[in-house]
Amino acid sequence: MIWEKNPVLLLVLATCAILVGTIITMVLPFAWVNTEADSIASVKPYTPLELEGRDVYIREGCNNCHTQTVRPLVADVLRYGDYSKSGEFVYDRPFLWGSRRTGPDLARLGGKYPDEWHYKHMQDPAGFVPGSNMPAYAFLSGKTVDPEYTRKKMAALNFPYTEDQITGLAGKTEMDAIIAYMQKLGSDIPWREAVAAEIVGELVNPYAGVDHATMEAWEHLYKENCAACHGEHFEGGIGPELDGASLEENDLFEIIYNGVPENGMPPYSSLGADKVWKIVNFVKYYNIGEDHQ
Ligand code: HEC
Ligand code: HEC
Repeated sequence: MIWEKNPVLLLVLATCAILVGTIITMVLPFAWVNTEADSIASVKPYTPLELEGRDVYIREGCNNCHTQTVRPLVADVLRYGDYSKSGEFVYDRPFLWGSRRTGPDLARLGGKYPDEWHYKHMQDPAGFVPGSNMPAYAFLSGKTVDPEYTRKKMAALNFPYTEDQITGLAGKTEMDAIIAYMQKLGSDIPWREAVAAEIVGELVNPYAGVDHATMEAWEHLYKENCAACHGEHFEGGIGPELDGASLEENDLFEIIYNGVPENGMPPYSSLGADKVWKIVNFVKYYNIGEDHQ
C-alpha cells in the first residue's frame, strides 16, 4: 500500500495516531481536573499549620510507604472509606497519591483517630502497633516551625491566611504540624455519613458459648487493634476502661463495627463481621471467671 512504501507519509500518519491517543489520555484530563466544574465547595485550602505539616510529610518521604487515594474498588472502600474524588486534590501541589502501600492508605485518615493517638503513634509506631515497621518520628517534636517561612509559602501558593494564624505558629513543632495535616486528610467532604454503616445480616453472635481456649487464640485481634487505646488488660488509656460484662453483645458489635468516630473510637468494619464478633466475645467473656490480669 502507498503509505507503507512512503516513509514520510507513514511517519506523519503514525504521529497523528499517537497524538490522538495522547490527547485523549493526557491532555483532556489535564484540562478537566482543577477546573471550576471539578471543584467541591467544602474542600478548603490548607491552613498555615497544615501546609507546614504537608511539607514535613513530603520531606520525610511518608509517601514512599503510604498512598493518598482510595480507588473506586469495593475492597478499597470497605477498608478505607469513600473513594477519592478528583476535586479533593485541587489544593495539592504536587499531589501525593503515591503508588506503594507498605503502610495503609491515608486519604481518609482525618478524624479517624484523636490527636493523642497520633502523638503516641508517631513517637514509636512499633511500640504502639505491634508488628509495625514504620520508623519512629519522635524527633519532629524537637523542631519548631518558622512562621515567616510559612508565610512566604502561603503567599507563593496563593492560599488565604490571617495574621493570627501566622503568629499562632510560634512555638508549634513539626509534630503539631504533621498531625494537623493528617487530621485534615479526606475530611473536607462528609463521607462518613455517605458510607453510613451497612449492617451485616442479623446481629446474632455466631460464637455464643465459646470456651476460654478458643478465645485465647483471638487475643491477638484485640492486641493489634484495641490495646493501644483500651490497654492490654482492658484497663483503658486513650479510650475508656472496657467492662465487657456491662455491655450487651449487640451493642458491643455495633460500637466496634461502626465506631464512634466523633468521640475518637475508630470503626472496624474493615475487619469484616466475623473478626468483629471474635473481638466482641473476647472483650465480653475472656476475663470472666479466669484470673487473667
Ligand atoms: C517504611 C514504611 C513507612 C514509612 C516511611 C511511614 N510509614 Fe506510616 N505506616 C507504615 C506501616 C507499615 C503502618 C501500619 C502499622 C502502624 O499503624 O504503625 C503505618 C501506619 C501509619 C498510620 C496509621 C494509619 C491508620 O489508618 O491506622 C499513620 C497515620 C501513618 N502511618 C503516618 C505516617 C507518616 C505521617 C509518615 C511520615 C512521617 C509515615 N507514616 C511514614 C509504614 C510507614
Ligand atoms: C484510637 C483509640 C481507640 C481504639 C484503637 C479503639 N478504641 Fe474503643 N473507644 C475509644 C474511645 C475514645 C471511646 C469512647 C467513645 C465515646 O465516648 O463515645 C471508645 C469506646 C469503646 C467502647 C464503648 C465503651 C463503653 O463503656 O461505652 C467499646 C466497647 C470499645 N471502645 C471497644 C473497642 C474495641 C474492641 C477496639 C478494638 C477493635 C477499640 N475499641 C479500639 C478509642 C479507641
